[in-house]
Amino acid sequence: MTAAESTFIHRFVPGSPEGSKTTLLLLHGTGGDEQDLIPLGEQLLPGAALLSPRGRVLEHGMPRFFRRLAEGVFDQDDLKLQTNALAQFVNGAARKYGLVDNKLIAIGYSNGANIAASLLLTHPHLLSGAVLFRPMVPFRPQHNPNLKDIPVLLAAAKRDQIVSPQETSELSKILTTAGAQVTIHLHPGGHELGADDVAAAKEWLSR
Ligand code: MLT
Repeated sequence: MTAAESTFIHRFVPGSPEGSKTTLLLLHGTGGDEQDLIPLGEQLLPGAALLSPRGRVLEHGMPRFFRRLAEGVFDQDDLKLQTNALAQFVNGAARKYGLVDNKLIAIGYSNGANIAASLLLTHPHLLSGAVLFRPMVPFRPQHNPNLKDIPVLLAAAKRDQIVSPQETSELSKILTTAGAQVTIHLHPGGHELGADDVAAAKEWLSR
Protein backbone atom coordinates (compact mmCIF):
# COMPACT_ATOMS: atom_id res chain seq x y z
CA MET A 1 0.00 0.00 0.00
CA THR A 2 1.44 3.40 -0.95
CA ALA A 3 1.56 6.35 1.46
CA ALA A 4 -1.19 8.04 -0.56
CA GLU A 5 -3.43 5.00 -0.18
CA SER A 6 -3.15 5.19 3.58
CA THR A 7 -3.85 8.92 3.88
CA PHE A 8 -6.67 10.02 6.17
CA ILE A 9 -7.99 13.52 6.73
CA HIS A 10 -7.41 13.89 10.44
CA ARG A 11 -6.99 16.16 13.38
CA PHE A 12 -4.04 15.92 15.71
CA VAL A 13 -3.86 17.50 19.16
CA PRO A 14 -0.40 17.23 20.79
CA GLY A 15 -0.25 15.91 24.35
CA SER A 16 0.83 18.20 27.15
CA PRO A 17 4.54 17.79 28.08
CA GLU A 18 3.58 16.64 31.58
CA GLY A 19 0.86 14.36 30.12
CA SER A 20 0.61 10.59 30.33
CA LYS A 21 2.65 9.70 27.21
CA THR A 22 -0.52 8.22 25.80
CA THR A 23 -2.10 8.78 22.40
CA LEU A 24 -5.83 8.30 22.07
CA LEU A 25 -6.84 7.15 18.59
CA LEU A 26 -10.35 8.59 18.24
CA LEU A 27 -12.65 6.74 15.83
CA HIS A 28 -16.05 8.33 15.19
CA GLY A 29 -19.38 6.72 14.36
CA THR A 30 -21.23 6.76 11.01
CA GLY A 31 -21.83 10.35 9.89
CA GLY A 32 -19.17 11.76 12.20
CA ASP A 33 -15.82 13.29 11.37
CA GLU A 34 -12.40 14.04 12.83
CA GLN A 35 -13.81 16.80 15.09
CA ASP A 36 -16.48 14.68 16.77
CA LEU A 37 -14.62 12.85 19.50
CA ILE A 38 -12.02 15.53 20.33
CA PRO A 39 -14.03 16.83 23.33
CA LEU A 40 -14.55 13.24 24.52
CA GLY A 41 -10.81 12.51 24.23
CA GLU A 42 -9.99 15.67 26.17
CA GLN A 43 -12.44 14.65 28.85
CA LEU A 44 -11.34 11.01 29.06
CA LEU A 45 -7.62 11.58 29.48
CA PRO A 46 -6.62 15.24 29.87
CA GLY A 47 -3.14 15.91 28.48
CA ALA A 48 -3.11 12.88 26.16
CA ALA A 49 -2.19 13.34 22.50
CA LEU A 50 -5.26 12.93 20.28
CA LEU A 51 -5.16 11.44 16.80
CA SER A 52 -8.54 11.62 15.12
CA PRO A 53 -8.91 10.40 11.53
CA ARG A 54 -12.03 10.77 9.39
CA GLY A 55 -13.43 7.56 7.90
CA ARG A 56 -12.81 7.48 4.14
CA VAL A 57 -15.96 5.72 3.00
CA LEU A 58 -19.07 7.76 2.27
CA GLU A 59 -22.55 6.29 2.76
CA HIS A 60 -25.09 8.78 1.41
CA GLY A 61 -22.55 11.49 2.21
CA MET A 62 -21.87 10.19 5.73
CA PRO A 63 -18.26 9.27 6.54
CA ARG A 64 -17.62 5.74 7.80
CA PHE A 65 -14.50 3.66 8.32
CA PHE A 66 -15.57 0.84 5.97
CA ARG A 67 -18.42 -0.12 3.63
CA ARG A 68 -21.42 -2.09 4.76
CA LEU A 69 -23.95 -3.98 2.66
CA ALA A 70 -26.75 -3.45 5.20
CA GLU A 71 -27.06 -2.55 8.88
CA GLY A 72 -24.61 -4.87 10.64
CA VAL A 73 -23.57 -6.65 7.39
CA PHE A 74 -20.07 -5.58 6.56
CA ASP A 75 -18.17 -5.60 3.26
CA GLN A 76 -15.34 -7.83 4.45
CA ASP A 77 -12.95 -6.96 1.61
CA ASP A 78 -13.34 -3.26 2.28
CA LEU A 79 -13.08 -3.81 6.05
CA LYS A 80 -9.72 -5.55 5.54
CA LEU A 81 -8.46 -2.87 3.15
CA GLN A 82 -9.54 0.03 5.37
CA THR A 83 -8.21 -1.62 8.54
CA ASN A 84 -4.80 -2.07 6.92
CA ALA A 85 -4.85 1.52 5.64
CA LEU A 86 -5.73 2.80 9.10
CA ALA A 87 -2.92 0.78 10.71
CA GLN A 88 -0.45 2.21 8.18
CA PHE A 89 -1.77 5.73 8.74
CA VAL A 90 -1.42 5.35 12.52
CA ASN A 91 2.17 4.14 12.24
CA GLY A 92 3.03 7.00 9.87
CA ALA A 93 1.35 9.58 12.11
CA ALA A 94 3.19 8.24 15.16
CA ARG A 95 6.51 8.88 13.38
CA LYS A 96 5.42 12.25 11.97
CA TYR A 97 4.15 13.60 15.29
CA GLY A 98 6.84 12.01 17.50
CA LEU A 99 4.51 9.56 19.24
CA VAL A 100 6.35 6.29 18.69
CA ASP A 101 7.13 5.87 22.40
CA ASN A 102 3.56 6.62 23.44
CA LYS A 103 0.99 4.04 24.44
CA LEU A 104 -1.73 3.96 21.79
CA ILE A 105 -5.29 3.42 22.98
CA ALA A 106 -8.22 3.35 20.57
CA ILE A 107 -11.46 5.04 21.59
CA GLY A 108 -14.14 4.05 19.10
CA TYR A 109 -17.86 4.64 18.95
CA SER A 110 -20.21 2.41 16.90
CA ASN A 111 -18.68 2.15 13.40
CA GLY A 112 -15.44 3.49 14.93
CA ALA A 113 -15.60 0.79 17.64
CA ASN A 114 -16.04 -1.81 14.90
CA ILE A 115 -12.90 -0.77 13.06
CA ALA A 116 -11.05 -0.54 16.39
CA ALA A 117 -12.07 -4.17 17.06
CA SER A 118 -10.90 -5.06 13.55
CA LEU A 119 -7.55 -3.33 14.26
CA LEU A 120 -7.18 -5.33 17.48
CA LEU A 121 -7.87 -8.62 15.70
CA THR A 122 -5.65 -7.99 12.65
CA HIS A 123 -2.84 -5.81 14.06
CA PRO A 124 -2.55 -7.12 17.62
CA HIS A 125 0.69 -5.23 18.34
CA LEU A 126 -0.58 -1.80 17.32
CA LEU A 127 -2.80 -0.94 20.28
CA SER A 128 -2.02 -1.01 24.01
CA GLY A 129 -5.73 -1.03 24.77
CA ALA A 130 -9.13 -0.05 23.45
CA VAL A 131 -12.40 1.46 24.61
CA LEU A 132 -15.15 0.10 22.39
CA PHE A 133 -18.44 1.98 22.74
CA ARG A 134 -21.32 -0.11 21.23
CA PRO A 135 -19.19 -2.46 19.11
CA MET A 136 -20.31 -5.39 16.97
CA VAL A 137 -18.32 -8.41 15.79
CA PRO A 138 -16.46 -6.96 12.77
CA PHE A 139 -15.54 -10.47 11.55
CA ARG A 140 -14.92 -13.91 13.00
CA PRO A 141 -11.15 -14.56 12.98
CA GLN A 142 -9.99 -17.90 11.57
CA HIS A 143 -7.00 -17.92 13.90
CA ASN A 144 -6.75 -16.32 17.31
CA PRO A 145 -4.55 -13.24 17.34
CA ASN A 146 -2.35 -12.81 20.41
CA LEU A 147 -3.97 -10.10 22.52
CA LYS A 148 -2.44 -11.35 25.74
CA ASP A 149 -3.11 -8.89 28.57
CA ILE A 150 -4.38 -6.16 26.24
CA PRO A 151 -7.10 -4.37 28.22
CA VAL A 152 -10.38 -3.69 26.44
CA LEU A 153 -13.39 -1.85 27.79
CA LEU A 154 -16.50 -3.01 25.99
CA ALA A 155 -19.33 -0.55 26.63
CA ALA A 156 -22.61 -2.08 25.50
CA ALA A 157 -26.19 -0.94 26.15
CA LYS A 158 -29.25 -2.74 27.49
CA ARG A 159 -31.64 -1.21 25.01
CA ASP A 160 -29.36 -0.97 21.98
CA GLN A 161 -31.50 -1.27 18.82
CA ILE A 162 -28.40 -1.96 16.67
CA VAL A 163 -26.24 -4.29 18.79
CA SER A 164 -27.81 -7.40 20.34
CA PRO A 165 -26.63 -8.89 23.67
CA GLN A 166 -25.56 -12.02 21.71
CA GLU A 167 -23.29 -9.86 19.53
CA THR A 168 -21.73 -8.27 22.62
CA SER A 169 -21.08 -11.62 24.28
CA GLU A 170 -19.67 -13.07 21.05
CA LEU A 171 -17.23 -10.17 20.68
CA SER A 172 -16.27 -10.44 24.33
CA LYS A 173 -15.62 -14.17 23.85
CA ILE A 174 -13.50 -13.60 20.72
CA LEU A 175 -11.37 -11.01 22.52
CA THR A 176 -11.07 -13.03 25.74
CA THR A 177 -10.12 -16.18 23.82
CA ALA A 178 -7.34 -14.14 22.19
CA GLY A 179 -6.05 -13.25 25.67
CA ALA A 180 -7.44 -9.72 26.07
CA GLN A 181 -8.60 -8.51 29.48
CA VAL A 182 -12.18 -7.54 28.74
CA THR A 183 -14.19 -5.35 31.09
CA ILE A 184 -17.86 -4.90 30.23
CA HIS A 185 -19.84 -1.78 31.05
CA LEU A 186 -23.60 -1.93 30.52
CA HIS A 187 -25.35 1.37 29.82
CA PRO A 188 -29.05 1.31 30.80
CA GLY A 189 -30.22 3.12 27.62
CA GLY A 190 -29.70 2.67 23.87
CA HIS A 191 -27.01 3.13 21.20
CA GLU A 192 -26.26 6.76 22.13
CA LEU A 193 -23.49 7.41 24.63
CA GLY A 194 -24.46 8.27 28.19
CA ALA A 195 -22.64 10.06 31.00
CA ASP A 196 -22.17 6.66 32.66
CA ASP A 197 -20.24 5.41 29.59
CA VAL A 198 -17.90 8.39 29.79
CA ALA A 199 -17.41 7.94 33.54
CA ALA A 200 -16.72 4.20 33.09
CA ALA A 201 -14.15 4.88 30.34
CA LYS A 202 -12.47 7.62 32.38
CA GLU A 203 -12.21 5.33 35.36
CA TRP A 204 -10.93 2.44 33.20
CA LEU A 205 -8.27 4.68 31.61
CA SER A 206 -7.05 5.90 34.99
CA ARG A 207 -6.18 2.36 36.14
C1 MLT B 1 -21.58 -0.29 11.48
O1 MLT B 1 -22.08 -0.21 10.37
O2 MLT B 1 -20.37 -0.22 11.71
C2 MLT B 1 -22.54 -0.51 12.60
O3 MLT B 1 -23.77 -0.90 12.12
C3 MLT B 1 -22.66 0.68 13.46
C4 MLT B 1 -23.18 1.85 12.70
O4 MLT B 1 -22.39 2.59 12.15
O5 MLT B 1 -24.40 2.05 12.66
